[in-house]
Amino acid sequence: RQHPEGSMSDILLFTQALARDAGKLIVDERAAAALTHEYKNGDELVTNADIKADQFICEAIARQFPGHQILSEESSPDLGAVQKITTPLWIIDPIDGTVNFAHGHNHSAISIAYVEDAQTKVGVVYNPFSEELFYAESGKGAFLNSNPISVSSEAELRRSLIATGFPYDKSTLAPMIPRLHAVLANCADIRRIGSAALDICFLAMGRLDGYYESLSIWDFAAARLIAIEAGAECGHFSEVPPGIDPQFYDRDILIANPTIYPLLRALLQEVDNA
Ligand code: IPD
Ligand code: CA
Ligand code: CA
Repeated sequence: RQHPEGSMSDILLFTQALARDAGKLIVDERAAAALTHEYKNGDELVTNADIKADQFICEAIARQFPGHQILSEESSPDLGAVQKITTPLWIIDPIDGTVNFAHGHNHSAISIAYVEDAQTKVGVVYNPFSEELFYAESGKGAFLNSNPISVSSEAELRRSLIATGFPYDKSTLAPMIPRLHAVLANCADIRRIGSAALDICFLAMGRLDGYYESLSIWDFAAARLIAIEAGAECGHFSEVPPGIDPQFYDRDILIANPTIYPLLRALLQEVDNA
C-alpha cells in the first residue's frame, strides 16, 4: 500500500519539495569540497553548508508564507516563540547530524516541522545521501518514500536496540554515564548514530526499539510527529515542568514502541533516582 498522493495537503507537498531541494544543496556543497568548519558556543560544529541550507529554507518559506513565524537552528533560535505561538510556525534544522556531514558520513538530514494552532501538523525528515524521505501529517500515518511505516513489535527490553546521543557541552555528561551502563546491561545494545531526527525516524520504522536524549526543539519537532503517527509512545523520563507543553519540552526525551516505553522509562528513572 502506497501513500495516495492526492490526499496530501499542499503544506506537506511544499515541505517535501523544500526538504529535497535543501538536501540536494548540502550534497552539492560537500561534493564541492569547500566546507568551512566553525564552532559556536565553544564546541558546537557548524559548516557553511548549515548556514546556506538554513537561509535557503527560511527564504523559501518566507516567500511562500510571508505571515508565518520561523524558528531555525542557525538563523533565529528564539526558543520563546514555541511557548507563545499565535501564527503558524515552522521549526527547522537545516542539517541534523552536522558532525557526520563534516566527517564524510552519509547520515544527516534536513528536518522541517510545521506547527499550527500550537500543534505539529506536518513533519518531514530527509536524508539526501540515502534518499530516505520520512514524513507525516497529523492523523494520517507516517511514511518512508510513500510507504507506510510503523514501530517495531519488540517486547523484551533485553532484546531491544536503543539509541541515544550526547550534547556538545561536555559539562553535562556526568548523568549520562550511569544511564549508558544500565542500558548496556539491560538491553541488547546501544547506538550513537549522530542524528537525533534520523534516530527518531529509525525508531518510527522499527530499525530501533527505543531512544532517549536531551535535545533542542529543531532536532525533534518533525521526527516526533512521524514517530507518533507510526505508533510510538513519546514522552519523557523526568517530570515536565508545570506550564510547559510536553510536545515541545526538550529535556530527557523518551521515545519507544509502546511495549518498550514503560520498561525503558522505569530503567532510566531507577538510575536517575539511585
Ligand atoms: C545534533 C544531532 C545529534 C545529537 C545532538 C544534536 P546537529 O544536532 O542531532 O545526534 O546528539 O544533541 O545537537 O548539531 O547535528 O544539528
Ligand atoms: Ca540538530
Ligand atoms: Ca543542525
